[in-house]
Amino acid sequence: MGLLLPIVLGFLAALLGAMYLLGVFRQRRPGEPPLDKGLIPWLGHVLEFRRNTLKFLERMKRKHGDVFTIQLGGFYITFLQDPLSFGSLVKESREKLDFRKFAVQLVRKVFGYAALEDEHTILQLSSNKHLKGDGLELMTQAMMGNLQNLMLHNIGSATDQSSWIEDGLFKYSYNIVFRAGYLSLYGNQPHESDGSEEKAKEKDRAESEVLFHEFRKYDQLFPNLAYGVLTPGKKMEAERLMRFFWDKLSVQRMKAKDNISGWVWDIQQAKEEMGVEGSMIDRYMFVLLWASQGNTGPSSFWLLLFLMKHPEAMKAVKEEVDKVLKEFGQEVKRGGPIIALTREMLTRTPVLDSAVEETLRLTAAPLLTRAVLEDMTLKMADGREYFIRKGDRMAVFPYVAVHIDPEIHPEPHSFRYNRFLNPDGSKKTDFYKAGKRVKYYNMPWGAGVSMCPGRFFATNELKQFVFLMLVYFEFELKDPEVKIPEIDFTRWGFGSMQPQTDVEFRYRLRY
Ligand code: HEM
Repeated sequence: MGLLLPIVLGFLAALLGAMYLLGVFRQRRPGEPPLDKGLIPWLGHVLEFRRNTLKFLERMKRKHGDVFTIQLGGFYITFLQDPLSFGSLVKESREKLDFRKFAVQLVRKVFGYAALEDEHTILQLSSNKHLKGDGLELMTQAMMGNLQNLMLHNIGSATDQSSWIEDGLFKYSYNIVFRAGYLSLYGNQPHESDGSEEKAKEKDRAESEVLFHEFRKYDQLFPNLAYGVLTPGKKMEAERLMRFFWDKLSVQRMKAKDNISGWVWDIQQAKEEMGVEGSMIDRYMFVLLWASQGNTGPSSFWLLLFLMKHPEAMKAVKEEVDKVLKEFGQEVKRGGPIIALTREMLTRTPVLDSAVEETLRLTAAPLLTRAVLEDMTLKMADGREYFIRKGDRMAVFPYVAVHIDPEIHPEPHSFRYNRFLNPDGSKKTDFYKAGKRVKYYNMPWGAGVSMCPGRFFATNELKQFVFLMLVYFEFELKDPEVKIPEIDFTRWGFGSMQPQTDVEFRYRLRY
C-alpha cells in the first residue's frame, strides 16, 4: 500500500498534466471571445477545418458571430471576421502580434529552411528596391521578353501555331506564367556559352519546362505537407523534390546565368554577407520560387476563364488593349515587329485592372495568422473589447469576412469585371458595410507587415499575359457551355486557389 499511493498519485498527476496539455481544462474567461474547443481533445476542430476551411468558418460565424476562439491541433486561434475591425489586427505592434514566428515555423517544416533572426529585413529591402518603382520597370521588361520567348517563339516559322492547338486552360496558363516568371527572376542561359541567342532561348524553354513539371508535383503535395499529414511515400517524394529544387536553384548554378533579377541577386548577396550557409541560401531560393510562382499562374487561369465566360468583359478588355496599343503607336501584323509592351502602357488599363482585382477577389483566399506574444485587448470598431491570451494565435480569413460578403460586394459569387471601376472609369475604392466605409475591401495580398511584396509585379505579370493572349491569339473554350469548375477546397488558406478540374480550350495565332 505504501508503494501504491505514490504510483497512483504520480499516474494521476501525469493524467492531469496530459489533460491540461490536451486543453481539457481551458474555459472561457470573462471578457474573452466565445470558445469552441470541438469534440476531440487537442485536435479540436482540425479535421473539419482541413476538410473545408471556408464551410467550417462560415459555420462558426453563424454560431458565434464575428469573433471566436477555436482549438486547432493544440493551438487556440481567435478568428476575427469583422472587416471593419481588421485594423486592430493589421496595425497592432509587433511586440503583441507577430507574423514571423508562424512563418518561420512553416518555412522550416515545408521547405527545410532554418531562418536566422532579423533575416526578414533582407527580403523587405530587396523587395522595396526591385519589386516597386524603377526596379519594377526592369522586372516587367524581363517578363515581357520571357513571355515572348515562350508564347511567340515560332511565330512566322514553318511550325507556327496558325492551326488550332488544344490544351487545358489551367495547364497552359500556369505553365506559361510560371516559366516566364521563373526566368525573369532567376535569369536566362548566357548567349555566349551557347553560341547563339536562339540556342540560349531554346535552352530556357526546355529547362523551365522541366522545372514546371517538377514544381507542379510539389504544388500538389503542398497542402498535406503543410498540415503534416503526408503518407511516408509522399513525404519521400516531397523531400526528393525539395532536393531537386535546392540543386537547380543553387547559388552556384545561378551565378552562371545572365539577367538574374536584382531581387534574387541582392537577397543572395545579403545572406552571404550575413554568414548564412551556402546550402541554406539554396533552400531559401526554393522558398522564394514558391512564394513568387505558386499564385500567379493559377490566377492567370481564372482571369482568362472569367473573360471567356463573360463576353461583355472580354469585349471591354479587348477594346482597352487595342486602344492602348494604338495610343502608343504599335500594331500587330504578320511579319511586323513583336509589340513592346511597357510598364507605362500597363498603367493605362483601368478595365483590365478591375478584371484582375475581381478575379483575385473570387479566387485568392489566404489565411493571415499572427502569434499573440503578450496578453492583449482586441478593440472592435463598434466598441466591443475582447481579452486575448498570450500564447494563442489570431487569424483572419478575408475570403469569408470580406470577399464574399454580400453587403460589401453584392452578388458576391458573380464575376463583375467592372466591380472595381467608377462610372467615370477611375478605380473604385469605396465599399461599405453597415453604412461604414470598409478600408480592407479586397485582400488577396494580405495586409500589414506580411502583405505580399510581389503584388505590383504579379499584377503586371497577369496583365502582360492576358495582353499577349488577346493581341496575338484567337482562343475559345472547347465547350462554350462548360461550367466554371469548383475551387479545390483542400487549398483554402494557401493563397491563389486552384480548380478541381481543368477546362479544355483551343488557341491559334491570329497573324
Ligand atoms: C497573384 C499572385 C500572388 C498572390 C495572390 C500573392 C499573395 C500573397 C499573400 C497573401 C502573402 C502574405 C501571406 C501572409 O500574410 O501570411 C504573400 C507573401 C509573399 N509574396 Fe506574394 N502573392 C502573389 C505573387 C507574388 C509574386 C509574383 C512575388 C514575387 C515576385 C511574391 C512574393 C511574396 C513574398 C516574398 C511573400 C512573403 C512576404 C514576407 O514574408 O514578408 N508574391 N503573397
